[in-house]
Amino acid sequence: MVALAPFVSSCLLLPLAVQDLCSHHRRRHESDALREAISQIANDSREKQRKFVETIELQIGLKNYDPQKDKRFSGSVKLPHIPRPKMKVCMLGDAQHVEEAEKMGLDYMDVEALKKMNKNKKLVKKLAKKYHAFLASEAIIKQIPRLLGPGLNKAGKAYDNMSYALILPCGKFPTLVTHQESLESKVNETKATVKFQLKKVLCMGVAVGNCAMEEKQIFQNVQMSVNFLVSLLKKNWQNVRCLYLKSTMGKVYRVF
Ligand SMILES: *[C@@H]1O[C@H](CO)[C@@H](O)[C@H](O)[C@H]1NC(C)=O
Ligand SMILES: *[C@@H]1O[C@H](CO)[C@@H](O)[C@H](O)[C@H]1NC(C)=O
Ligand SMILES: *[C@@H]1O[C@H](CO)[C@@H](O)[C@H](O)[C@H]1NC(C)=O
Repeated sequence: MVALAPFVSSCLLLPLAVQDLCSHHRRRHESDALREAISQIANDSREKQRKFVETIELQIGLKNYDPQKDKRFSGSVKLPHIPRPKMKVCMLGDAQHVEEAEKMGLDYMDVEALKKMNKNKKLVKKLAKKYHAFLASEAIIKQIPRLLGPGLNKAGKAYDNMSYALILPCGKFPTLVTHQESLESKVNETKATVKFQLKKVLCMGVAVGNCAMEEKQIFQNVQMSVNFLVSLLKKNWQNVRCLYLKSTMGKVYRVF
């Protein structure tokens, strides 16, 4: 694993055809390193039984990026397997969606509950913090700015663009759900989606799996996450400094 880095950087000096060959090798090395790390994490977690299912996080270090100057990217990808089944989702629903949410045991808020918050910034922030993601009915999504006040960005400034004026200090925009689609599959889709966003620092972490998943499933999730991330980067792999995998309580394993 450690020997991989010099190998990769020497690759970048070679002519393109050779680089192709190199990147083929690199991908194979990477897959091996990844399988090994996943196997280690799974073994560690079997050895030390925790009272909860540990989440597995992919930690990314970037290079050759200037967050001040370069365009900040962000993108979401739906993974084949839900990394965090217990992720908390809240339905901001109209009457029909509220009824469906209740049947499914999904947390929800109706218009009355939203009105009661009285645009109180503290309460809105608290709500945003309590959930990982929000879904909203069509009838509600349009009213959100009116019900909750304008959304706030990181600096606490209100978004002036109405399509962004959908709450939440942490970039949690509710996802629209219509009555034509199944609420349950929308919830699943939301839970399976991970977001990559470059902020002020050159590292980020996303939940890509958990220790109750099969190793093969973890592998598929990591592979898809990494490929997607690399596709977002200006210079693809040349912007990747390192990749680590880590379970909540476990050791850190370098995979690239
Ligand atoms: C994990 O445990 C299995 C079974 O005990 C073993 O065969 C495998 O080599 C271990 N993997 C690692 C990476 O230690
Ligand atoms: C608001 O943002 C959306 C999405 O980026 C964009 O398509 C739209 O033109 C923006 N509207 C205004 C008024 O800036
Ligand atoms: C949603 O996910 C759960 C748990 O993974 C699964 O049992 C259920 O069948 C899924 N439902 C739909 C509609 O995809």
